[in-house]
Amino acid sequence: MTDRDNLLWLQCWRDQQIDFNQASANQLLTRFWPGLYLAKRSRVFVPLCGKSLDMIWLAKQGHVVIGVELSPVAVKAFFHENHLRPTRRKVGQFTLWQHGRISILCGDYFSLTVAELGQIDTVYDRAALTALPADIRSLYVAQLSLIVPDSTTVFLLTTEDSDETETLSQAVGVGAEIKSLYSALFNIKLVYVESVFEADPDFPDQLPQRTEHKAYQLSSKQSVSGVI
Ligand SMILES: C[S@@+](CC[C@H](N)C(=O)[O-])C[C@H]1O[C@@H](n2cnc3c(N)ncnc32)[C@H](O)[C@@H]1O
Repeated sequence: MTDRDNLLWLQCWRDQQIDFNQASANQLLTRFWPGLYLAKRSRVFVPLCGKSLDMIWLAKQGHVVIGVELSPVAVKAFFHENHLRPTRRKVGQFTLWQHGRISILCGDYFSLTVAELGQIDTVYDRAALTALPADIRSLYVAQLSLIVPDSTTVFLLTTEDSDETETLSQAVGVGAEIKSLYSALFNIKLVYVESVFEADPDFPDQLPQRTEHKAYQLSSKQSVSGVI
């Protein structure tokens, strides 16, 4: 991740150009998360969390939620808009905002260490991997593998634009990029796929393009109990 990318995200939050925000908890999360059968008090890491309401939903399931987010504007808005009064303290290079079962480490994901993050059982990724430029995504996965234990399960939501060279059965299968990024370390299970036709708001004259919304469960190849 370059300093320029970070500055652009910080600017987005300052200018409130944040159309990725959801008005309520993600429907694929609420539908498929219970199928992971996690213990209530298990610790869920939400990388690049923004001010996602998914963290509120996860905490309501009894989980301990740990987000990481670059923008202090986002972190402040998260707690303020949910009427929570967090404590704040320095943890290494990060500022830790915390209320009840929800903690957010404000700082750069790529600088995060195990010492700051603590033990993690599960990762919830919505618009984190896919928010990053394509050439940075392998670094994102490499960093993830450094800071979470081998036994961690990842619940990953993606939005994948169909490639013209793909057949329909390829488009609705495990995405080629997901395979190349994760298959060395994880068993990949495609839990759900939904095809939608969406117009690109930047090109209103073009025909709507097919897009796949997918939910994946990634289980570590290192963990015997995690093999699907
Ligand atoms: C597309 S948004 C998704 C936010 C959230 N996951 C959601 O579902 O609403 C990506 C977020 O990642 C944050 N971000 C980008 N680069 C980051 C980095 N290197 N470290 C921490 N957060 C980062 C941005 O500020 C932004 O809030």
